[in-house]
Amino acid sequence: MSESTGPRPALDLEAFPPSFAWGTATSAYQIEGAVAEDGRAPSIWDTFSRVPGAIDNGDHGDTACDHYHRWPEDIALMKELGTDAYRLSIAWPRVVPGGDGPVNKAGLDFYDRLVDGLLDAGITPSVTLYHWDLPQALQDRGGWTVRETAEHLAAYTTAVAERLGDRVTRWATLNEPLCSGWIGHLEGRMAPGLTDLTAAVRASYHLLLGHGLATQALRAAAPGARIGLVTNHSTVAPASDRPEDLAAAARMDGHTNRWWLDPVYGRGFPADMRELYGVELPERPGDAELIAAPLDWHGLNYYFPVTVADDPEGPVPYAREVRLPDVPRSGMDWQIDAGGLEALLLRLTEDYGVRELYVTENGSAFPDTVGPDGAVHDPERTGYLEQHLAACARAVRKGVPLAGYYAWSLLDNFEWAYGYDKRFGLVHVDYATQKRTVKTSGRRYADVIRAHREATAG
Ligand code: FCB
Repeated sequence: MSESTGPRPALDLEAFPPSFAWGTATSAYQIEGAVAEDGRAPSIWDTFSRVPGAIDNGDHGDTACDHYHRWPEDIALMKELGTDAYRLSIAWPRVVPGGDGPVNKAGLDFYDRLVDGLLDAGITPSVTLYHWDLPQALQDRGGWTVRETAEHLAAYTTAVAERLGDRVTRWATLNEPLCSGWIGHLEGRMAPGLTDLTAAVRASYHLLLGHGLATQALRAAAPGARIGLVTNHSTVAPASDRPEDLAAAARMDGHTNRWWLDPVYGRGFPADMRELYGVELPERPGDAELIAAPLDWHGLNYYFPVTVADDPEGPVPYAREVRLPDVPRSGMDWQIDAGGLEALLLRLTEDYGVRELYVTENGSAFPDTVGPDGAVHDPERTGYLEQHLAACARAVRKGVPLAGYYAWSLLDNFEWAYGYDKRFGLVHVDYATQKRTVKTSGRRYADVIRAHREATAG
């Protein structure tokens, strides 16, 4: 990239090992478009985005960034940024359109070409098997509330691993099961749009069981696979020192963090949360061991911290989010606090004993515009990026085995219930023309990557 963004950022880049992976991340439904091409069947997001009022502006992923056709250009952008890793997800409804049953060769062919294109460009693919786009056919049979869905995830995983496992080594089973479980089944703000605690708890269980079964399937089909799980977390602070608020913070921590980590790291589902939910888990002998199958790495998605107060009349977990005044916020209205990233990286290392970590998503949305000079100046996103990279460096200095960072996102894309209004990309997308423009933040990221390579070369 010819244009520099100024002096080398004041970042402790030497903290990061020479092998550190510098990447960007996306997911299938958010960028691919081509929803009816080459045998793809609808997913729960195709359905949900047609529910009136579910998505801002009535947006949907029918075309999105048209990545299905423009992927060579997008790989060229990754190269231009100097990244050497790319986190993508595979669309289950392309590969097994019915959810279970026949494999669609044409669907796998697309990812085959994409993976080869990445490898040719010197970019290591990190493949997530499930980033929320459940085949609608499976939702019609109960979705994540039934055990069979976890089994079908494993069968689909086998099909993907048999095709790509000779070239892809970095695999993740699920992306953010919290969002599928809680936001999709309890809060109703994401597909499948349910607001049912029993369904949500059962879904959360089957998602983690699916993670375990998919891990087993990957180990069998791709012996060289290095397997991880991607979870999203927030640090949770009490709104005051009142015992009620302290207890609310502990409940929110259980709901947001411990429920998703304890069973994966061999502690089982937390007893306090089981009691609070009051929903019987659909447990069977052997499940706990499957869910806690040893992993090679853990992926942390981090965006914001939360502060909560006791809310006995509110919904589970009876902890109301308190909006702090006078704190920096992104265009999502999320509080910006890089210290939360450092704290969570340390917690995963020290409390859960994770031995290899990636930041698999981190980033910010702001209302960018293309200036008269044709450039997109996004100082706030650039600042967010630098602050969070600095937090990563501090964590590494404290002993966190951080192996890489994936900025969310390569491109502006379909931001779920917020549609196309919320832009997270390092690269701007003009949806009318599909023109891509690297933002100032993208150029800054390129500078950081180059500076790190120079600092650690030889
Ligand atoms: C995460 C999702 C990702 C993206 C970012 C902003 O929760 O994993 O797809 O939407 O948030």
